[in-house]
Amino acid sequence: MNGLRLLGAGYALPANVLDNEAMTKYVETSDEWITSRTGIRQRYFCGEGENTTTLAIEAAKKALADSGLAKEEIGCVIVATSSGEYSMPSTACLVHKALELNENIPVFDLGAACAGFLYAVDTARAMLLAHGGKYALVIGAEQMSHVLDMTDRNTCVLFGDAAGAAVFALEEDAEYAYVCGTRGDLAIQVGGPRREMPMTMEGQNVFRFAVSTIPATVDELLKKTGKTLEEVDWVVCHQANQRIIDASVRRLGVPAEKFYKNLDRYANTSAASVPLAIAEMKESGKLVSGQRVIMCGFGGGLTWAGVMMKI
Ligand code: ACO
Repeated sequence: MNGLRLLGAGYALPANVLDNEAMTKYVETSDEWITSRTGIRQRYFCGEGENTTTLAIEAAKKALADSGLAKEEIGCVIVATSSGEYSMPSTACLVHKALELNENIPVFDLGAACAGFLYAVDTARAMLLAHGGKYALVIGAEQMSHVLDMTDRNTCVLFGDAAGAAVFALEEDAEYAYVCGTRGDLAIQVGGPRREMPMTMEGQNVFRFAVSTIPATVDELLKKTGKTLEEVDWVVCHQANQRIIDASVRRLGVPAEKFYKNLDRYANTSAASVPLAIAEMKESGKLVSGQRVIMCGFGGGLTWAGVMMKI
């Protein structure tokens, strides 16, 4: 079975940090409400000269450097995003230009909201198998601040901007499993019509969806691979709400430390959240070679996806 192995990772954050107190400038809210309902303490928002493209390029450069590969070795680029700077060209094409990558490779954006990065990981694997490449650059990048209604307290306090990127190698004996799903009938529960139009969200319905979907995705991956949660070193799930992660931990009956958390510092960065976490864990030495990790995402669509791999 041809699986993927993580070779390198990187992340990028905008310069502006807004703590919860700063959000009271926009809407009637409080640090107490945001912290107790979500666990979020601050988020990053793009300022002048920063956007999804600049974040994606910075994260991609760091991931490529971390992988030790030459740029000519990259055989596919996918950017998962719902907040690209342009409809055309894709953010992936702008990354391709900035990194001066090869011409004859598939390069495109993928939209599956907060599950987008994991959809992109498996799509990259399929692209490498179809086109004969060995290495893929997969990025999750979002400027959520650009699609938020800063007068809607139900959404504007929850999101942040960031990018995370990873370089994967296709290897014949790499341990790898993937699951995904979609509930198109629940499409209107989160989203917005265009980049220029703000997003809305039915928070409680998405919450209910999330607390059943994360454990179900983890269980499905374990069933598929015959592994137990004891054999998994880390579960890195989409960073939307501390209470969602706590509920998943309870349902799965695992030690809370197995679930990586950084949403207190970055809020919900949609497609960037899982690769941002992975890159941060790798940088800090928490995620090391030989560990088995489950990555799990859920979000607008509604969509979900999970990957299990050995690092
Ligand atoms: N500050 C103060 N009060 C607020 C705020 C705020 N920022 N936002 C809402 N409230 C109020 C509401 O108006 C409501 O008041 P009311 O009782 O007088 O009507 C009260 O707080 C409670 O609101 P709830 O919606 O019941 O709050 P809840 O505990 O459900 O938390 C939240 C809301 C944080 C949105 C939660 O439901 C959640 O995290 N949902 C999941 C979101 C998610 O995971 N999204 C991921 C997908 S996003 C994507 O794909 C792009």
